[in-house]
Amino acid sequence: MIALPSRNYETAEGVFTRPEFVAEFGYRYKAGQHVILFGSTGRGKTSLLGEILGAPGMPKSEGLITTQLGPDKALAHLGKPVKTWPPPEVILKAMVLDHKDRGVPFIRRYQPLPKKPEDFIAIRRQTSRILRWMFGRSNWTLAVPDLQIVTDPGMQGLGKEMDQLILTMRKRGSGAFMDAQAPRWIPTSCRDNTQHVIIWPTRNEDAIKTLGRIIGVDWREITSLFKGMGYFDAIWVDVTADEFFVIRSK
Ligand SMILES: Nc1ncnc2c1ncn2[C@@H]1O[C@H](COP(=O)(O)OP(=O)(O)OP(=O)(O)O)[C@@H](O)[C@H]1O
Ligand SMILES: [Mg+2]
Repeated sequence: MIALPSRNYETAEGVFTRPEFVAEFGYRYKAGQHVILFGSTGRGKTSLLGEILGAPGMPKSEGLITTQLGPDKALAHLGKPVKTWPPPEVILKAMVLDHKDRGVPFIRRYQPLPKKPEDFIAIRRQTSRILRWMFGRSNWTLAVPDLQIVTDPGMQGLGKEMDQLILTMRKRGSGAFMDAQAPRWIPTSCRDNTQHVIIWPTRNEDAIKTLGRIIGVDWREITSLFKGMGYFDAIWVDVTADEFFVIRSK
């Protein structure tokens, strides 16, 4: 960690470089915690998500499944793609054990690319199946890069399912990593059930106010933190510890 460079950061605990952040996050993240990455398009949400999840020791559960629309190079280094999920329970158990034995994180990506409008129906059904399956799971991790695709009524319309899932996952010690471009895609249940929020600077007051409510902080404080930050810089709020950090992009 380096010294605070400007008084704009006076409310932050400190400033991390990317590698420092990834290491510190990996140290602080506890199994079953929920993480939201929030910022407008192209800020590097999914890139940072890929870095976090690829860090040694992550994701601190038996396995991780993503649900995404098409491949994303920011996540391509994580595990393998799958066409359906889950596999039969016996096979799943064997795969979990095998990965444990080898000391390799068990990560699968559900990343279908629709080729025609009808494909959306099958993709929605499969996504819904993954969410349902997560309901009963302990010690698993779900990653949703781009919540809009899952929650937007015009896309998969699974906002209600996602909302209910967030609550039950916490209770079962399963964690969720989600990125979103606008607060309206963030499930309401995240307000009281998110332990880490990573935010990129935005001028959108509504967005800042919503995030302020999630992290329990006055939105003006967040606005003042944004001043002087670079395009790819972000703020990490460790909600449980009630600490803020600036993540420098370089
Ligand atoms: N810290 C960074 N420094 C420079 N370039 C970056 C940084 N982070 C991400 N990028 C680049 O910015 C582009 C967008 O990154 P990414 O896809 O992660 O953004 P995103 O916020 O997930 O966008 P979207 O909301 O559209 O999915 C990519 O080309 C990526 O390589
Ligand atoms: Mg993205």
